[in-house]
Amino acid sequence: MSDSYIHLYITIIILSVCFVINAQSDSLNTLESTIISHGGQVLRITDPQYKAAATLHNRAIQIWPDLILRPATYDDVSLALSTLSSLRIPIRIMGGRHSYGGYCSHQGIVLDSALLKDLNIDWTTETVTMQAGVIWADVYRALNGSEYVALGGLCPTVGVVGFTLGGGYNAMYSRSFGLASDNVLNFTVALYNGTVVTASSTINSDLYWALRGGGGGNFGYVLEMTQKIHRMSETKMPNGQFSFLNITWVNIDIRTALTNWLTFLKNVADDDTRISFNVIIAVNSESNFLMMYCSFNGPSVEINSVFGPWLSQNPKPTFYDVFNYTQTDISRALGIPFPVVNREHVLSAMAINITEAMLDVILDFQPNSTAGLVGSWTELIYLHNANKDKNTAYAFPDISFDIAPGVSWTNPDADPDAIEISEKFLEKLIDAAAPSKSIVGAYLNYIDPYLRDWQKMYYRNHWDRLREIQTKWDPTWYFRFPQGIPPYNQQSNDSQLTNRSVVTIGSLIMLVLSQCFCLMH
Ligand SMILES: Cc1cc2nc3c(=O)[nH]c(=O)nc-3n(C[C@H](O)[C@H](O)[C@H](O)COP(=O)(O)OP(=O)(O)OC[C@H]3O[C@@H](n4cnc5c(N)ncnc54)[C@H](O)[C@@H]3O)c2cc1C
Ligand SMILES: *[C@@H]1O[C@H](CO)[C@@H](O)[C@H](O)[C@H]1NC(C)=O
Ligand SMILES: *[C@@H]1O[C@H](CO)[C@@H](O)[C@H](O)[C@H]1NC(C)=O
Ligand SMILES: *[C@@H]1O[C@H](CO)[C@@H](O)[C@H](O)[C@H]1NC(C)=O
Ligand SMILES: *[C@@H]1O[C@H](CO)[C@@H](O)[C@H](O)[C@H]1NC(C)=O
Ligand SMILES: *[C@@H]1O[C@H](CO)[C@@H](O)[C@H](O)[C@H]1NC(C)=O
Ligand SMILES: *[C@@H]1O[C@H](CO)[C@@H](O)[C@H](O)[C@H]1NC(C)=O
Ligand SMILES: *[C@@H]1O[C@H](CO)[C@@H](O)[C@H](O)[C@H]1NC(C)=O
Ligand SMILES: *[C@@H]1O[C@H](CO)[C@@H](O)[C@H](O)[C@H]1NC(C)=O
Ligand SMILES: *[C@@H]1O[C@H](CO)[C@@H](O)[C@H](O)[C@H]1NC(C)=O
Repeated sequence: MSDSYIHLYITIIILSVCFVINAQSDSLNTLESTIISHGGQVLRITDPQYKAAATLHNRAIQIWPDLILRPATYDDVSLALSTLSSLRIPIRIMGGRHSYGGYCSHQGIVLDSALLKDLNIDWTTETVTMQAGVIWADVYRALNGSEYVALGGLCPTVGVVGFTLGGGYNAMYSRSFGLASDNVLNFTVALYNGTVVTASSTINSDLYWALRGGGGGNFGYVLEMTQKIHRMSETKMPNGQFSFLNITWVNIDIRTALTNWLTFLKNVADDDTRISFNVIIAVNSESNFLMMYCSFNGPSVEINSVFGPWLSQNPKPTFYDVFNYTQTDISRALGIPFPVVNREHVLSAMAINITEAMLDVILDFQPNSTAGLVGSWTELIYLHNANKDKNTAYAFPDISFDIAPGVSWTNPDADPDAIEISEKFLEKLIDAAAPSKSIVGAYLNYIDPYLRDWQKMYYRNHWDRLREIQTKWDPTWYFRFPQGIPPYNQQSNDSQLTNRSVVTIGSLIMLVLSQCFCLMH
């Protein structure tokens, strides 16, 4: 072969590589300009809005993406998905940015729903339709002053879609009205190739089943969903008010107080779904603190007869207050900041019962301060019979408690210690529960990158069916993250996905090379 042939071949190869890479850059440029021309945004680290847009709830998991695309229309979400998936450029879907694992972000392209903020309440069908960028605060504002409540989070800055896809409990209302996922009538979903489908009990019912509890970031991009809202008729109070009991014990015999509470649950509350609790326990060698937020969705005249016998037992509460609260009042009273000031690690154990051996572990959660912890606590969310629709992917119809330990700290150097302390606590709790088989898994919405055996812990017996559904709707596993649901016979994996930064640098190098090559001839 002569030299000139070799040159010709090399030229052809380089030109075709350049062509492919430039075609990629071209379609990315077209995507960006289309999004902008329809009122959307494209944010890079140099943009003034970038930092606020990329900031996650939890400082410990902050990741700064290369590029944030904020489409303003459903068509542009579809265009983004079909363009990026055909180039095999990985994305993450960003909503309210509360994922404890940071799975709404990565060092690549993020598709952010922040501009999809429409919210429509239909008072006749008693439903609310919410676009992907809506957060619960938007819904509570729209319902404020009405008789109605939605099944959203106590923390008002959580995104409605991420919350609902993982099940979504409201610690004050779910025992009365079910989980968020129980209340979804339909979803509108953009698939990896941009095709938009509806999922409801009659249309694509497998996808509808999976989206209700199967978790954010799998199957597809939820563009909007319609959920039932509920009239607070039982309380007989105006504006959707309910009785909110703040019951606090400080430095008392905390084990007896908790045992009395567990007896009250078994004898009274288990059969009365108007009663809900969110309990916070903090103990150290000098002091202890037990605070119960309790809602009673019945007439306030019944409070004394329902709660009186329990609360008159020793040890009596140190503080006890009853408020007439609305859903808006409660999120204001709790005042959870966004983003949080500290770094934090929160875990979950879904439990059927709380046994004596588990109480031993919970009351011994006193991590020492060498890790520089600002705080450590255990939350007990009482969820007996909170799951009203058993035909969903939510895997915990039988539990009574989400036991959620957490730690917070400020110094990044303490990350490994803080994580080890809390993960060890969870393991001790699981060991203590083993003989009674009380702990059956972990709550997907408190997603924990360090959780062992997470497939079984999050999904229990639903894992195989969820994989089948993922195989049908996302066969190449485009919607992917480290704790995502892989399809069967998956054709490609992370090593075959391209980084955007790789594409950009690659195309630059090729451009320079091809220029040099041309100049040489
Ligand atoms: C302070 C705090 C309080 C909380 N309180 C509660 C509570 O009371 N009850 C409860 O059940 N949970 C609670 N959670 C957990 C919360 O429900 C989950 O973190 C939830 O996943 C957050 O959703 P998001 O949209 O805010 O977060 P994001 O991090 O934006 O999203 C979470 C996951 O969903 C995916 N996702 C987001 N939008 C879409 C979409 N449109 N389509 C498909 N996937 C999408 C993301 O990719 C990510 O994997 C709380 C969390 C925090 C930090
Ligand atoms: C909710 O409505 C009440 C009156 O019904 C009003 O005082 C309050 O400011 C409203 N809150 C919000 C957050 O809109
Ligand atoms: C979802 O359900 C609501 C209420 O029944 C209905 O108005 C709406 O058209 C439905 N949306 C889709 C996409 O089916
Ligand atoms: C709460 O509402 C009930 C019933 O309307 C009323 O009797 C009671 O006084 C109110 N309590 C407070 C603290 O406002
Ligand atoms: C509940 O009571 C405790 C103790 O008085 C107090 O610290 C806390 O702020 C109260 N919380 C709410 C929401 O009322
Ligand atoms: C305190 O915690 C650190 C980190 O977990 C551990 O190495 C150390 O042994 C602990 N000290 C005591 C006194 O428990
Ligand atoms: C939980 O407690 C109830 C009531 O005491 C009991 O009937 C049941 O067997 C317990 N379940 C487990 C798994 O311990
Ligand atoms: C997109 O993918 C779905 C699921 O694999 C498929 O049914 C649909 O036909 C695809 N759409 C296009 C335009 O290829
Ligand atoms: C991913 O792909 C690589 C190379 O193609 C292969 O070696 C690896 O086993 C794959 N991983 C999985 C989880 O399929
Ligand atoms: C993408 O880039 C990041 C940071 O440069 C790197 O850690 C990651 O491994 C890359 N992913 C792939 C699939 O190349």
